[in-house]
Amino acid sequence: MRDTLKSTVLTLALLAPMLVTAAVRGQSNPPGGSQSTPTPHEGPVAGQRFKNLQVLKDVPADQIFPAMQFITASLGVECTFCHVEGAFEKDDKEEKQTARKMMTMMFAINKDNFDARQEVTCYTCHKGTSDPVSTPVIAETAPKPEEEATNAGAKPSLPNAGEILDKYVQAIGGSDAVHKITTRVEKGTMTFGPAGMPVVVYAKAPDARVTVVQTPRGQSVTAYNGESGWMSGAGPSHPITGGELDNEKRNADFYFAADIVKEFQQVRVMGEDKVGDRDAYLLVARSPGHAPVRFYFDKDSGLLLREMRFVNTPLGRNPSEVDYADYRETDGVKIPYQWTIARPGGRFTIKIAEVQQNVAIDESKFAAPPPPPGMEAKPGTR
Ligand code: HEC
Ligand code: HEC
Repeated sequence: MRDTLKSTVLTLALLAPMLVTAAVRGQSNPPGGSQSTPTPHEGPVAGQRFKNLQVLKDVPADQIFPAMQFITASLGVECTFCHVEGAFEKDDKEEKQTARKMMTMMFAINKDNFDARQEVTCYTCHKGTSDPVSTPVIAETAPKPEEEATNAGAKPSLPNAGEILDKYVQAIGGSDAVHKITTRVEKGTMTFGPAGMPVVVYAKAPDARVTVVQTPRGQSVTAYNGESGWMSGAGPSHPITGGELDNEKRNADFYFAADIVKEFQQVRVMGEDKVGDRDAYLLVARSPGHAPVRFYFDKDSGLLLREMRFVNTPLGRNPSEVDYADYRETDGVKIPYQWTIARPGGRFTIKIAEVQQNVAIDESKFAAPPPPPGMEAKPGTR
């Protein structure tokens, strides 16, 4: 456990967002609560894997790290705000004990007032600070006058989801062109803060994808091969499970654009929004038992600009965002040559310099390593 934790925390520090997946597994079942559609979970409960849990001991073990990330982002602090370095089980810090009381309070609020739905979370009160304000804020400037009444009620009519998705598929080259490509190898650079690291993405239809980053500490791999997902960093490899596995599967779906409709039970247009300076349509896709996904499509070009994903945890949902940019036509299809993955804890960008399509990729690239003892992936647990 100690080694796993160490490598996990190391990876967290090094490549936080995407590669944190080893630490971030989770589908939620709040303790004592009934999430709308609880996902059956056969893995060990947290109390079996960790030493000193009192409130979260009955949640699936793989939800502890996502929950801790949720707390950390909600309060805008580091792990050491509550924890003694290298000894997460210790209760020496008052902040940790307060946090435990806060969890109990939060579950009680939701149970007593919201049928145990996760309506009030740490973030509801804390909003990114450890010291929430309880009085209304006085603004620095006078409030702006109300918007001109002429705009009121004049909502432009929106296209439907089918039209937006069709336009997207057309924009990237059309279904036929898209399906003519069966493999893709992308080479580029991943920038994380000031650091730039070589990255190679191997993708194969219908649903295999392996990302290899050369970090100063060695290779870091995030992969899904159609059956299982795994990630390895500075330590042994870990299976990817829960909501993070959903995300990896979607990343790996080679014909994702054409598959959005098939993958989700319901896709709905929610309105218009901005992504940077672009106007976009916002679509929300849902499937029972999974966190929703928000898609932002460029109003003009029809291209996918942003995808916002959520991973459920026992304390709230961890958001992550992927922004796609620099679409270029390559062998008849348009693909993004740049994407940025952002989470509350940080962001990184992958810039592609070279793309090869329909080349053979060695099968061994997609072979899952054996899971370390005690961390076997359970295919039935999603
Ligand atoms: C605001 C306080 C707070 C922050 C910040 C926080 N934790 Fe925790 N952590 C807790 C509390 C409280 C528990 C015990 C929960 C319980 O009793 O069920 C806990 C338990 C744990 C445990 C289980 C230890 C054991 O063996 O019993 C681990 C591991 C852990 N946290 C890791 C982390 C990591 C990694 C981070 C940073 C990403 C982090 N925590 C950030 C409050 C915090
Ligand atoms: C209903 C609002 C509310 C919710 C929900 C809430 N908190 Fe708090 N929390 C507060 C307030 C208010 C304070 C400050 C109390 C004070 O100043 O004594 C506080 C203080 C804290 C502190 C002490 C900070 C310090 O500087 O010592 C910690 C740690 C904390 N909360 C963690 C959490 C965690 C973790 C969650 C989610 C499980 C959570 N809180 C949910 C309102 C909330």
